[in-house]
Amino acid sequence: MPVISFANAKGGAGKTTAALLLATEVAARGKRVTIFDADPQKWISRWHELPLNCPGITVVNQISPASITEQITYAATNSDYVIVDLEGTENLIVANALSVSDLVVVPIQGSSMDARGGAKILTLIKKLEKIVSHDIKHCVVLTRTNAAVTTRAMKAVQDFLCAQDIDVLMTPIVERAAFRDLFEFGGGLADLNPKQVSGVAKAKENASLYAAELLERAIAVPQKRWYNVFKRAS
Ligand SMILES: Nc1ncnc2c1ncn2[C@@H]1O[C@H](COP(=O)(O)OP(=O)(O)OP(=O)(O)O)[C@@H](O)[C@H]1O
Ligand SMILES: [Mg+2]
Repeated sequence: MPVISFANAKGGAGKTTAALLLATEVAARGKRVTIFDADPQKWISRWHELPLNCPGITVVNQISPASITEQITYAATNSDYVIVDLEGTENLIVANALSVSDLVVVPIQGSSMDARGGAKILTLIKKLEKIVSHDIKHCVVLTRTNAAVTTRAMKAVQDFLCAQDIDVLMTPIVERAAFRDLFEFGGGLADLNPKQVSGVAKAKENASLYAAELLERAIAVPQKRWYNVFKRAS
């Protein structure tokens, strides 16, 4: 039922990778997941068309600014999780999707450009909260981090987020070949062949911790708000 959107106004921040990792982790736990693919590159739709598929995942890519809120609200009634992969910009689809999200995840790489793109989404969330008259829960996930060292740029981003009092996941998404290769081979991390792809075990551990942290946040959503959404939609 929770709607989890991935947004950063800067392109290439790691939204699609973070969204697919969450979706495949949740599907591997036997849950029904609907992914809205609002990325113009349609990476998740292409992944879904690969022969090796993940049972339990439906991908929707026919989306318009006028229809997206109703599409998401409807999908939330017949899926265990709705995951929305948004374009790296600020547009009406992004704003509409965020306005019906239970949790907005802002992936940020260790660069000031990414942090600024993320800050734009956080400002947009603040404006939307006034329009929808409720808080829109949000958090940052650091992406493509180096497993061995924290770079100076990453440290600057962490300090910036800390100064703004922003909720940052304890688990970053590490830079791993396995996360890229999902898009080539299809399926989830459990389907990757460790002989073909390096670091699969570490990637699985990282993805599992990341998903667990996000789900903890997504599940703690006041049910009353859902009741209001259903009332509005009916
Ligand atoms: N944790 C990671 N490990 C390795 N490669 C990664 C990781 N995260 C992202 N990438 C790579 O970085 C690039 C950008 O990632 P991704 O497509 O997920 O970003 P995005 O924010 O969705 O981009 P866009 O704004 O264009 O939609 C891709 O080539 C992807 O494979
Ligand atoms: Mg993308």
